[in-house]
Amino acid sequence: MAEHVKVMLTEEEVDRKIKEIALLISRDYVGKSVHLICILKGASFFACELAKRIDVPVTIDFMSVSSYGGGTESSGYVKIIKDLDSPIEGKNVIVVEDIIDSGRTLSHLLNLLKSRNPESIELCALLDKPERRVVEVDAKYVGFQVPDLFVVGYGLDYDQRYRNLPYIGVVEFDD
Ligand code: IMP
Ligand code: MG
Repeated sequence: MAEHVKVMLTEEEVDRKIKEIALLISRDYVGKSVHLICILKGASFFACELAKRIDVPVTIDFMSVSSYGGGTESSGYVKIIKDLDSPIEGKNVIVVEDIIDSGRTLSHLLNLLKSRNPESIELCALLDKPERRVVEVDAKYVGFQVPDLFVVGYGLDYDQRYRNLPYIGVVEFDD
């Protein structure tokens, strides 16, 4: 079936928003450094653009997780596909995610990371779909709230495609 992507947030809108978030973070962490944890693969584009615009010292690490067990019910675990390279104890951590959907994965992940004794931990997500929330997660930095539609681009995929789009869009199917 043929499909096309309809633009929801332009490249300019996304870039402007990332600059705003970077400014907020730079202000909130003045005199400190931040340790960004990028959740692969979706957050990678956002995390790089964000990191480039933060003007306090930045370190960055990567983690890949998936919901454990599958199915529609939350299992209470996250499966770590790739763990962090370095300990986060004593660091000012910001978890960088592409989108908050049900909140299940992130909520488990945040609990896991908190148990490793960071100095502080906050969540930063480019997109938030509040209508879909099942588990409450407290994100300090959110780019855009979006309606309950499947979005792609800027790291987000549909069957591994469209991550490289420089804007956020919705997949539409032609008939
Ligand atoms: P949850 O919040 O634990 O339900 O999972 C969030 C994850 O689901 C995100 O990191 C994305 O990988 C994926 N996801 C949720 N909504 C979308 C979407 O609209 N487009 C692409 N991926 C999505
Ligand atoms: Mg993801």
